[in-house]
Amino acid sequence: MLFKQQALLRQKLFVLGSLAIGSVLYLVARVGTLDRLQPICPIENRLTQPEPAQIPLRTLQFKRGLLHELRKGNATKEQIHLHNLVQQLPRAIIIGVRKGGTRALLEMLNLHPAVVKASQEIHFFDNDQNYARGTDWYRGKMPFSFPHQITIEKSPAYFITEEVPERIFKMNSSIKLLIIVREPTTRAVSDYTQVLEGKERKNKTYHKFEKLAIDTNTCEVNTKYKAVRTSIYTKHLERWLKYFPVEQFHIVDGDRLITDPLPELQLVERFLNLPSRISQYNLYFNATRGFYCLRFNIIFNKCLAGSKGRIHPEVDPSVVTKLQKFFHPFNQKFSQITGRTFNWP
Ligand code: A3P
Repeated sequence: MLFKQQALLRQKLFVLGSLAIGSVLYLVARVGTLDRLQPICPIENRLTQPEPAQIPLRTLQFKRGLLHELRKGNATKEQIHLHNLVQQLPRAIIIGVRKGGTRALLEMLNLHPAVVKASQEIHFFDNDQNYARGTDWYRGKMPFSFPHQITIEKSPAYFITEEVPERIFKMNSSIKLLIIVREPTTRAVSDYTQVLEGKERKNKTYHKFEKLAIDTNTCEVNTKYKAVRTSIYTKHLERWLKYFPVEQFHIVDGDRLITDPLPELQLVERFLNLPSRISQYNLYFNATRGFYCLRFNIIFNKCLAGSKGRIHPEVDPSVVTKLQKFFHPFNQKFSQITGRTFNWP
């Protein structure tokens, strides 16, 4: 009798367990198919819809799923045709500044359902060989996207390269330009740290930052040092302003993007005329990394690669002060031109 009851109980448990597993599998499969079947609605339509608390999960999964397949080369021509996917020239470019947080900005903007990023730095406008290949080559380097989406690429070398403003102007004189800046001395040290790491990887020795940043003969700031020159933001911007009005630029505060990214991203959304879709849900602080990481949905999240957020070498405080004093007037001019103020010394 007892044996019979136990067998019956086991049977019931088995049926219940199977039902539970079956339901979970069904739900997973259902969400997957829905994602593949329903394309994203155009931005204009979504604008009239009530603001969701977070990015619609299905939209992102669809975007990620299909575009990921395309990147892997798994999507067929039929799929591309069926979903009306196109390779579009960027409507916005993150032109710099190197070590300002360009990768973080691109990845974070890519959280927006209407944004598609070019994963690699294309270096079309700053590299003569690439530029000679023409606009069709450039377009061919762009990811597939839905026609209503905007493509964004980032190549930080654009900001400091002489020929680039004119070349971009010739391609699209109304393109939107994003510049992310950090406190100039910190940026210069970050720049140095990246180069130092490269040298160490090749077992090469390298000068100390102080030796490069300060001219040993004059004891003044060495303006020939590239990491210093790149941080004189206003000098570079002035070259760009010969081609584009200041309204076509949006300055992102890279220090704030590190400590509190959402408000900076919302300003960019507004600049790009996109509905506000990136929310706090999409950004979570990872204490181990010491940075905000990205949450696309309940399943997929990621932090930036380890090469972002390096530990900087300690720099002689007197050199730091000297550099900060040196950059100060340039920073003031930069703020005057752009209308953005910063918490910089
Ligand atoms: P450090 O490595 O000096 O800390 P770029 O992508 O332009 O090369 O910029 C790299 C910088 O982005 C890093 O410089 C880091 O401080 C900054 N950054 C901003 N947000 C980040 C994030 N969420 N994760 C990692 N690095 C981030």
